[in-house]
Amino acid sequence: MKRLLAVLSLTLFTALPSPALLAAEAAPILIRFSHVVGEDTPKGRGALLFRKLVDQRLAGKVHVEIYPDSKLFGDADEMAALQNNQAQLLAPSLAKFSQYNPQLQVFDLPFLFDDMAALERFQRRPVGRELLQSMKAHNIVGLGYWHNGMKQMSASKPLRLPADAAGLTFRIQASPVAEAQFAAVRASAVAMPFAEVRNALSSGRVQAAENPWTNLYSKHLDELQPVITETSHGALDYMVVANSRFWYGMPHDIRSELEAILDEVSYAVNTDAEQQNAQARAAILAAGRSQIVTLTADEREAWRQAMRPVWLRFEGQISRKLIEAAERSNHAR
Ligand code: LMR
Repeated sequence: MKRLLAVLSLTLFTALPSPALLAAEAAPILIRFSHVVGEDTPKGRGALLFRKLVDQRLAGKVHVEIYPDSKLFGDADEMAALQNNQAQLLAPSLAKFSQYNPQLQVFDLPFLFDDMAALERFQRRPVGRELLQSMKAHNIVGLGYWHNGMKQMSASKPLRLPADAAGLTFRIQASPVAEAQFAAVRASAVAMPFAEVRNALSSGRVQAAENPWTNLYSKHLDELQPVITETSHGALDYMVVANSRFWYGMPHDIRSELEAILDEVSYAVNTDAEQQNAQARAAILAAGRSQIVTLTADEREAWRQAMRPVWLRFEGQISRKLIEAAERSNHAR
């Protein structure tokens, strides 16, 4: 009997693969990174750089698949896909988080941040870092901010003064602030996913839009919008987010390496975004399909005055403290 048991346990023991073999054969962790813009945009390039660095540093341990241009999920379903782990990483614009934390609407208030440098200062301060952690109850964790650029208004005519926008219908992201911003100048707004903007402009469903230069150029929206007015009335910026259960469920060493890679990619994206927007602006100018109108200081001030009441309307949801902190970031110290 003893011998039988010994033979049995030996057979069992030799039949089981060694732990080392098991580890070597474990399938790599799959990260599906879904986004809604083209690959030649700040976000598109950021996603590609992330995959490249993961391939170099975590080969065999993590595998990244990128789905640009709403090919896997679009604006309407990407957040649900993240929460139920069909996608593991996204970088939606900050306008798309208001239902999870209304305070994030601070990023959309018109004429709040003077430029991208002010936005960057706000995001680097503790108040900005805390917002990354503010959606964990929804299984969403922010891992960093990525820039695109300041938004410009496009239409079939120059929008030098707020009255020029009255009566136009603008495509907006699903953002209550954006809706209020256009209502303040007696324009209408229709919220729709980014993937629908081009069709909506060419069918006439909307006649105007607000986009940074890279999004205008990469989707050839200058073919459909004869005039782009350089309003720079707000920023289009992103939060890189992960499914937090997935993220914190990964082995610690792998997660730390991924976070280090993301920090490196965020730095690269945020350093290049301004130049990419400048290049897209120059390319639109060179193509000559759209006229670019720059505002005088007085004209810009008229826009600011018309849209500023929107701040007050959202102060209850965002908090005065946060709005003031954002205003302070317009000064370098
Ligand atoms: C938009 O919907 O206009 C943007 O959020 C698209 C993007 O991700 O840049």
